[in-house]
Amino acid sequence: MATIGREVRPVSYPRGEVRASDFRVVEVDLRPPRPGEVLVRNTWTSVDAALRLRLREEAPPGYFPAFPLEQPMDGIMTVGEVVESHADGFNPGDTVWHASGWRDYALVEAERPALGGVGTLTKLDVRGAPPQAYLGPLGANGLTAYAGLQVAGLREGDVVWVSAAAGAVGSLVVQLAKIGGAQVIGSAGSADKVRHLVADLGVDAAFNYKDGPLPDLLREVAPDGIDVYFDNVGGTHLEVALGALRRAGRVAICGMISEYAAPKPPPGPGNLMLAVTKGLTIRGYRASYHTHLLPEMSRRMGTWLREGRIRHRETVVDGLAQAPAALAALLRGDNTGKTLVRIEDLPHREGVAHRFDQRQS
Ligand SMILES: NC(=O)c1ccc[n+]([C@@H]2O[C@H](COP(=O)([O-])OP(=O)(O)OC[C@H]3O[C@@H](n4cnc5c(N)ncnc54)[C@H](OP(=O)(O)O)[C@@H]3O)[C@@H](O)[C@H]2O)c1
Repeated sequence: MATIGREVRPVSYPRGEVRASDFRVVEVDLRPPRPGEVLVRNTWTSVDAALRLRLREEAPPGYFPAFPLEQPMDGIMTVGEVVESHADGFNPGDTVWHASGWRDYALVEAERPALGGVGTLTKLDVRGAPPQAYLGPLGANGLTAYAGLQVAGLREGDVVWVSAAAGAVGSLVVQLAKIGGAQVIGSAGSADKVRHLVADLGVDAAFNYKDGPLPDLLREVAPDGIDVYFDNVGGTHLEVALGALRRAGRVAICGMISEYAAPKPPPGPGNLMLAVTKGLTIRGYRASYHTHLLPEMSRRMGTWLREGRIRHRETVVDGLAQAPAALAALLRGDNTGKTLVRIEDLPHREGVAHRFDQRQS
């Protein structure tokens, strides 16, 4: 029997801010799955900062390709339930993750690698964690945070600054760095987020980067400098970090969200010579380069979540059609923790944002 699905498709590339009018929702007839394929009813789909990098004519060289206009958006992490399976190892009712997000039904080729291996169809164990946790701490975000601290060569006693620290990746990084024995400073864009970082996530110090000149704000909480900068923001944040890093300091460049909407890449940090004078190590990375760490990360993260040593917050938006608005809100900073779209189009729920803390039991 044919299934009618709905997909969010980009119709124009945003100039500056992402707008709802840059997208439309279309209905599609899905054919039955072929051998090797499964049909999945998606229940939760991910909203990620880096989607902005693909909503333009060309994505940065070496990155995932730009989303073609008027086509489904392939390469977005999603969880759902298998409805029909013609692939070995998958059965109706299984909870899975895959990378055909921003739609309510997806035909997925079981063996086909997706998102550099992070998003290949995978059966999930939802006995100890809700499905959407696999889009956050138990999934790609967890891997990004976990691998990033290895990239940074985290050592016990390091003073670590994490930017965008109250977001999906940042909120995990600060807690993993604490578990690793670091002294952790988090920065974020509101007083509420600063409170959340200190009160809920246990950072040693936090500041709102909008409260004054960034070098002063950082100096106040790290008067003797920092050993590691975990960069989610780029731009001025990176430049200020280079100034604050001590000799042989390290930078893990995870992302540069402050630059994603810029029509042309802005010039790099003006003080890069400090990398020479201080003997700094600056390493960029992608989670998909570290998929070998996934089993170890999910095992350890699962334990820390159950023990309450890692906490995570979700910003949930209801309704597939609200995915573009959820992305726009994330890029504005109107999110805390992991941003998710719940694909259950109960009419009274469309567009309502909920926030809640989630501690695994
Ligand atoms: N390397 C990888 O494999 C990988 C994988 C996943 C994500 N990432 C990167 O990780 C970073 C976080 O991504 P996410 O998906 O977890 O998003 P997120 O942190 O949940 O949300 C993005 C946050 O960035 C902050 N922000 C937005 N514009 C900013 C600006 N101009 N200056 C400073 N902060 C700004 C906002 O918080 P405030 O209120 O604090 O401004 C917003 O909440 C991004 O750079 C992303 O590209 C990298």
